[in-house]
Amino acid sequence: MKEMTQSNKKGWDGLAATHYKKYHIEKLLAGTPLLNEVIRREVGDVLGKSLAHLLCHIGTDTLSWALLGAQVTGIDISSESLKYARLLTDKMGINANFVEADVMEVIEQVHEKFDIVFASTGVLCWIPDIQRFAQTVKHLLKDGGFFYLHDGHPFRLVMNAEDGKTYPNQIVGNYFRKQVWQYDNLGDYTDPDLLIQEKSYEWDWTLGEIVTAFCDAGLRIDFLHEYPQYFYSGYTPYDVEDNKVELYPCTFSLKASAR
Ligand SMILES: C[S@@+](CC[C@H](N)C(=O)[O-])C[C@H]1O[C@@H](n2cnc3c(N)ncnc32)[C@H](O)[C@@H]1O
Repeated sequence: MKEMTQSNKKGWDGLAATHYKKYHIEKLLAGTPLLNEVIRREVGDVLGKSLAHLLCHIGTDTLSWALLGAQVTGIDISSESLKYARLLTDKMGINANFVEADVMEVIEQVHEKFDIVFASTGVLCWIPDIQRFAQTVKHLLKDGGFFYLHDGHPFRLVMNAEDGKTYPNQIVGNYFRKQVWQYDNLGDYTDPDLLIQEKSYEWDWTLGEIVTAFCDAGLRIDFLHEYPQYFYSGYTPYDVEDNKVELYPCTFSLKASAR
């Protein structure tokens, strides 16, 4: 498992510089948060709250929350991504803390507690153990705090065939598939020509496994919303090409509270 995660880390290290160029940094530097309106509305007011952002990548969402008044800590395994997150923090002249860690080891490494734990857009496919991830969220939360997740809906798993390709609107795959996906190159969604020569490994989790993991960790599910839109295109988490409405769930959001 550890080797797979390390290989994923190297892949993300290789993508960080390109994402720094493509992720609408200029907007962020001008003081505009990049988070989409669904996330903003569902998370609500963060002013004065402490917020941990899991799998924060180059920190663009993390720093968007900081612009909205949260005291933020971004956590990611990719040292190269965090280099850009810190560079952005300096350029913006705001306070933010970034911690380099495998999320599977955060229980041992991070002892601070937060009002909000947040993760979005390309999260659960990088998680080798959903139960451990949910326990990690619980570990990071203060009593009365909450976790918010916005990610691709697991229903899309049925459109992923064994050849590793996605066939939109066709049922070609197994929703209950349990083997790890292995790709020879980590392709880049912002630049199809950029191929990172690192094997990448991804995991599938059904909606039942996700919800049950947070219940088992001792959290109370406040809501599970399903959306027929992606709210992001294949380019960056901040580009929506046509926001097409499908006949099936494309994204979901989950809020769960620590009692
Ligand atoms: C798709 S990005 C996260 C989404 C974010 N919204 C974005 O695009 O800016 C995936 C991130 O997960 C991180 N990651 C993958 N596996 C991880 C792990 N085991 N622990 C911590 N971070 C991990 C990668 O380094 C990468 O920065």
